[in-house]
Amino acid sequence: MIITIDGPAGVGKSTVARAIARRLGAVFLDTGAMYRAVTLAAVERGIAPADTEKVRGLFEVCRFEFRPEAEQMRVCIDGQDKTAEIRDPKITEQVKYIASAGPLREKLVQMQRDFAAGCERIVTEGRDQGTVAFPNAAVKFFLTADPRQRAMRRHLELTAAGKTISLEEVLRQQQVRDASDENREVGPLKPAPDSIPIDTTTLTVDQVVNRMEQIARKIIDGR
Ligand code: DC
Repeated sequence: MIITIDGPAGVGKSTVARAIARRLGAVFLDTGAMYRAVTLAAVERGIAPADTEKVRGLFEVCRFEFRPEAEQMRVCIDGQDKTAEIRDPKITEQVKYIASAGPLREKLVQMQRDFAAGCERIVTEGRDQGTVAFPNAAVKFFLTADPRQRAMRRHLELTAAGKTISLEEVLRQQQVRDASDENREVGPLKPAPDSIPIDTTTLTVDQVVNRMEQIARKIIDGR
């Protein structure tokens, strides 16, 4: 059984997806971490993220591992823990090259499907989970929130992780990312026609999770 959660950067997808997964006894998959891991692998090897052919070659030589843990998804490349590095704003700025390359998206969507095939229940979050990766998912959510509110949340996360960056800079990067997420030709950020919209602007994490859990349980019980 698959539950998808899509939405823009900073809307709180990972936090609520993790909480919902815990409540429903499901595995949690953060697909943004996959795009970030491929970007980091390219940068570390001196490959330009925009060079799709060379980046594609990385799938043959690198071992990417994604392990769901209670508080986060552990990301390892060739056995080395890269969970923190993939969140660096320098990586965040370059993910768009990987995210807009059709052949790379195909690879990552396949990895997501393989991952889901091994799970009885999964909550997966990203941009195209309900539209491209899992169009037949049992429950689909699409989260939205006011852009400044989203930037404030992301800024808090980054400063808590010891990064020095201004709120205005986070907002600027977010606008660039929103535009690139929404306008790319492959796997753009958009709600699936059968997704349930949730605006999180004025809601606490608990309120969002409660509402989503209620909806999900109703759909699951009615199947
Ligand atoms: O959710 P995030 O900020 O960690 O995602 C990082 C980037 O990866 C984001 O800019 C868009 C891309 N992404 C994507 O294109 N498709 C997904 N399913 C998940 C993330």
